[in-house]
Amino acid sequence: MSCCVIVGAQWGDEGKGKIVDLLAERADVVARYQGGNNAGHTLMLGDEVYKLRLVPSGILYPGTTCVLGSGCVIDPEVLIEELDGLEQRGIDTSGLRISGNAHLIMPWHRIIDADSELMLGSLQIGTTRRGVGPAYADKASRVGIRVQDLLDEKILRAKIQTALSVKNVLLRKIYHQRPLDKEALAEATRGYAERVRPYVADTSLLIDQQLAAGRKVLCEGAQGTLLDLDHGTYPFVTSSNPIAGGACAGLGIGPTRITDVLGVTKAYVTRVGAGPFPSEADEERSQLIREHGGEYGTVTGRERRCGWIDLVALRFAARVNGMTQLAVTKLDVLSIFERIEVCVAYRLPDGSVTEDFPAHQSDFHHAQPVYEQLEGWNADISGVRAMSDLPPAAQAYLAEIERRVGVPVGIVGVGPRRDQTVTVRDFLRAA
Ligand code: IMP
Repeated sequence: MSCCVIVGAQWGDEGKGKIVDLLAERADVVARYQGGNNAGHTLMLGDEVYKLRLVPSGILYPGTTCVLGSGCVIDPEVLIEELDGLEQRGIDTSGLRISGNAHLIMPWHRIIDADSELMLGSLQIGTTRRGVGPAYADKASRVGIRVQDLLDEKILRAKIQTALSVKNVLLRKIYHQRPLDKEALAEATRGYAERVRPYVADTSLLIDQQLAAGRKVLCEGAQGTLLDLDHGTYPFVTSSNPIAGGACAGLGIGPTRITDVLGVTKAYVTRVGAGPFPSEADEERSQLIREHGGEYGTVTGRERRCGWIDLVALRFAARVNGMTQLAVTKLDVLSIFERIEVCVAYRLPDGSVTEDFPAHQSDFHHAQPVYEQLEGWNADISGVRAMSDLPPAAQAYLAEIERRVGVPVGIVGVGPRRDQTVTVRDFLRAA
């Protein structure tokens, strides 16, 4: 049995897609445990580019079971569009299983997400406006509509009617939008039901059975640790738990089943949306990283803010996830620099210097980065496939990350293609 959680160690966009894809080839099950179509990853299979937002990348490998767990929120329109798109390209989607307990993103969630952001003005979170937050809010308020509701027309109609009796008042009176038509919505949603029905399953049981049979399960987190609702940089966070513990709640497996936690970090840091970012680079170098790293959002196309690796935040991520290994992606992007900054501590407003992530929001908002400067390698490393072939300065950079974070580096990305990877440890095989 092997159950490896892949978790983002930063603010999302760490390149988890490529790492999951690498390991998915050898996994029996690839399971997403939280988030919705606010996530997005681009995968390259040969010369073909696939952009997935919901469905786990394991779908590209015949025979792999892919799971959307109960912790996910699912926009049925997006799901169906993604499934249709995959099938049109000859990808068999019959291996997908969706938890009946997962919640649906309904049209009012999308409207409320966008409009409530507008109302926040300068306090905007910068959400992806896909309705993810409002769907999770309804889940917590116990008025959400779940995937299993799609399977019973009577229940579905009743739930839509109940929801709209409140949401339409909100839409009209608060957001000055036109109310949604109950009949049209019930009809459209019923249409989705037929398409989604074959995929609905008890995914907690399925994963348990797979683990009991000694199979390899990969749990795929979306977003990243600093966007975690409980442990991230609240309120500039997503509405679910991307941290490794979220895999247990979001899939219905016990913590004792997890054998490995692989934290994925970029060799630098990016952030989309608003919120504090201590190691953000100056505009010139941020721009350089953005251009060389192609740092534009997969879902929204927004420019990502770019900065230097933050080892204070990474140590924190190692702690809250119980990381056993690190995957460092996009090391090649830093090849353009003569010298590289590494944020090793924060100077807090009271003048103290700490290597621990501040527990209080004001300390984090005002934290000043303390940098150590390391030599760059200034050489093309995109063809390197073994750790020992990396330039000494690149090896020293990785060694410094390992030393300060206390977690060994198991995988290094040196380019966007799947083969542009240095693998130190073979996860699913070794586990
Ligand atoms: P939401 O998840 O759409 O509610 O957005 C909440 C915050 O999480 C915003 O700052 C988004 O930019 C951020 N976010 C959500 N999904 C991703 C992602 O996949 N990558 C990076 N940031 C994300």
